Formats: sequence, structure tokens, C-alpha cells
Amino acid sequence: MADLHRKLERSAIRFMLAIIAVASIGGLVEIAPLFTIGSTVEAAPDMRVYTPLEVAGRNIYMREGCYACHSQMIRSLRDEVERYGPYSLAVESKYDHPMLWGSKRTGPDLARIGEKYSDAWQVAHLNNPRDVVPQSIMPAYRWLLRTPLKTDDLGRHLAALRTVGVPYTDEMVANAPIDAYGQSAPDDDKARGVTERYGKATHVRAFDGNPGELTEMDALVAYLQILGGLTDAARKTDQTALGE
Ligand code: HEC
Repeated sequence: MADLHRKLERSAIRFMLAIIAVASIGGLVEIAPLFTIGSTVEAAPDMRVYTPLEVAGRNIYMREGCYACHSQMIRSLRDEVERYGPYSLAVESKYDHPMLWGSKRTGPDLARIGEKYSDAWQVAHLNNPRDVVPQSIMPAYRWLLRTPLKTDDLGRHLAALRTVGVPYTDEMVANAPIDAYGQSAPDDDKARGVTERYGKATHVRAFDGNPGELTEMDALVAYLQILGGLTDAARKTDQTALGE
């Protein structure tokens, strides 16, 4: 064995080929079984796409770098499931381009933050975290409440997501700015189109507490409130393997 090694070591090319052969064993063991199962992504027929307002909120989440402190991925470990809820499924990130799983948790995981708190709590917290969590080290995002949301480019955002596989219809793309307004103005005529296009369960509320004005706060809170709520698939999976 030592002899073989000595010989291999002296020829760079042969040594490289040997490294590739050995290293690929791990890859084969991990990847090959995936070809034998029907699908690596669970089926979730009830899954809906993000509304234009939620897409705008997601863009703000990326712009502000929330992913640098928050993950959106609950691992299948007992402590995570007990703290955050059912572990994340691949299908739940199906329409996330790019995915926002994150790799650091200065703050808690947000994969199932949707509806954990009221809109008013989220608004107060984003405006100044210390108003509701005195010991918080999260930065304040005060400008969200006073910055009007830019909606004229939302149709193009939806169209771009469609090119990478998110099933937005022509009607959704064409009505994106109107739907963004309608989702945060429950008493306006424009609200009806939102539930027609995105389903009855869609939250239609004045997220920032002010239905007359569409702000970046509306968008970000609409997005936070749907996290973990696009499909029920995770709540229906059998998590008994964790000893639940
Ligand atoms: C510097 C790190 C940091 C950044 C950046 C950050 N957060 Fe936080 N976040 C925290 C910490 C720490 C907590 C826990 C204390 C608290 O609740 O304020 C927290 C808590 C939260 C909670 C409550 C979670 C729960 O389960 O109680 C939400 C929601 C949240 N952050 C959203 C956001 C959003 C949205 C952004 C971007 C606009 C953001 N955070 C940016 C650190 C951060």
C-alpha cells in the first residue's frame, strides 16, 4: 500500500486522477440515491405564489440585509422544531429566487414567523425593536413607515420571476401595482382582485395601520406575515422521527 502511494505521489496527473476517483465516492453515495426516488421536492398542491406586495416586501428584506442576522430554514433537529415549529421542506422555498435560508442567526429563525405576532407588533418592532423587546440589539428601520412603496416596476419583478419558473399569469403581471395597493386597502375596490387572483386565504389588511397610504412597511410586514404560510405541507408531514 505504501509502495503504491509512493508511486502515485510521484506522478502529478495519476495522483490527481486518484484523488478525483476517491473524492467522487462521497458524491456518488449522496447523489445517486436521489435518482431512484420520484421527486426530491415534496408535492404541495395548495402552494400559492407571493403576491406583488409580498414580493416588494421580500425585495426590501434583501435590500436591508435582514438575512445577515436571520435564517429562514428550520433544521430537522429536535431543539429547532420545538422552538420554531415544523422543520422546513424543500417545497416551501420553491418560489424563492434567490433563496433566503441564510447562514447566521444573530436573531431567531423567521421561516415560520407569519402570524406569530400581530401586524401592530411587527410595525412597532421594525420601527424600533427596543419599544417591544427592551434588550434587543436589532437595528431600527424607521424609514419604512415614511417611505412610499414604489409599485410601478412590480409587474416587471413578477415577469422576471416567471422566467425562472414561478407560475404568474399575464393577469397577475398586468395588475401587479393595483394588487399591491389593494392588498393593504381592505375597503377599496382594488382589494377584490387580490383574493380573486391569489386565493381567499390571502391576507388583505392595512398592514402598517394606515389603509390610505402604501408604504415600504406595508410590504415588509405583508411578507413577514406570510412566511411559513404559503403551503400547509410542513404541518402535514410526519415529524415523529424526532420523537415528537
Ligand atoms: C444585527 C442583526 C439583525 C438584523 C440586521 C435584523 N435583525 Fe431582526 N432580530 C435580531 C435580534 C437579535 C432579534 C431578537 C430580539 C428582538 O426580538 O428584537 C430579532 C428579532 C426579529 C423578529 C422577531 C422574531 C421572533 O420570533 O420573536 C423579527 C420578525 C425580525 N427580527 C425581523 C427582522 C427584519 C425584517 C429585518 C430586516 C429589516 C431584521 N430583523 C434585521 C437581529 C437582527
